Amino acid sequence: MSALTFYLVRNDKGKPIKLPTFISQADMDQIEKEFVVQDGDVFVTTYPRSGTTWTEQIVHLLVNNGEQGEQRLTDAVPWLETLPHRPNGMVEFLKTMPPRRLFTSHLPYSLMPPLNNSTAKVVYIARNPKDVAISNYFHVQSKANYDGPWEEYFQLFLNDDIGFGPYFDHILSWWQASQKDKNILFLKYEDMIRDHAGNVTKIASFLDIQADSQLIDTVVTLSSFKSMTSQETTNFDWIPQRAGVPKHFRKGKIGDWRNHFSAEQSQQMDDLYMKKMKNSGLQFDFEV
Ligand code: A3P
Repeated sequence: MSALTFYLVRNDKGKPIKLPTFISQADMDQIEKEFVVQDGDVFVTTYPRSGTTWTEQIVHLLVNNGEQGEQRLTDAVPWLETLPHRPNGMVEFLKTMPPRRLFTSHLPYSLMPPLNNSTAKVVYIARNPKDVAISNYFHVQSKANYDGPWEEYFQLFLNDDIGFGPYFDHILSWWQASQKDKNILFLKYEDMIRDHAGNVTKIASFLDIQADSQLIDTVVTLSSFKSMTSQETTNFDWIPQRAGVPKHFRKGKIGDWRNHFSAEQSQQMDDLYMKKMKNSGLQFDFEV
């Protein structure tokens, strides 16, 4: 079994949360102690492979009046969990960030720095578990040198032997938080695919950005799959990845799971979905 041996366990109120080993306990401790949320901060937060990069680009463009700028997206919207790895350390790096600071994160709600009473906001994107599992399967092949078959990865996903904690706990923790906190906007990848402009408008309004139709059009155009894969600052080609497997931007569609799940796997995921999601008031679309 070529299990993902890359994860460490971190206790989150007694519950084990698995993080990739490149995010150490010391990193998390430093973030907890030294990362202070500021007014105006925006966090794009997701379970991995749910549309993080897409939403980073939308938020970056909205905050910068449609200007892409020179920075790579990973610098314009840096990943919170890896801030301690910045060349001069997290604290020095944060000094270089002008407001409004934009961050990305894959942390479950209970591990996120508290927003306290600031005006910081979180845009959380969720995606149906079948497409998330498939997208992550290709992602770990490319980024974590995972070389097991899909059948095996599917079991790892079902058994929560994957990074950033159980998928359903992640989604539900943020869903519940968003019901109570007006500074958390909970969106779904599938809705963004169906109504890109409508969701860009929703994000703009949530961030208190007065966006006219021209700005919305610019953001939609520059955050399209086609545009993001062709721009040097957004295509992620600078991130090392294994050759011969799909890149960071793979298909960008709803329902690709159908090309990989067996009927039995689909049923297993449906059963788990029903068990975890019942009474949550949250539903996903699995098809276009
Ligand atoms: P697929 O692997 O299904 O293609 P994340 O950024 O959270 O890692 O999510 C990656 C997923 O979002 C990938 O899904 C990727 O193709 C998709 N994606 C990235 N940019 C997108 C865009 N502009 N429009 C639609 N999907 C996008």
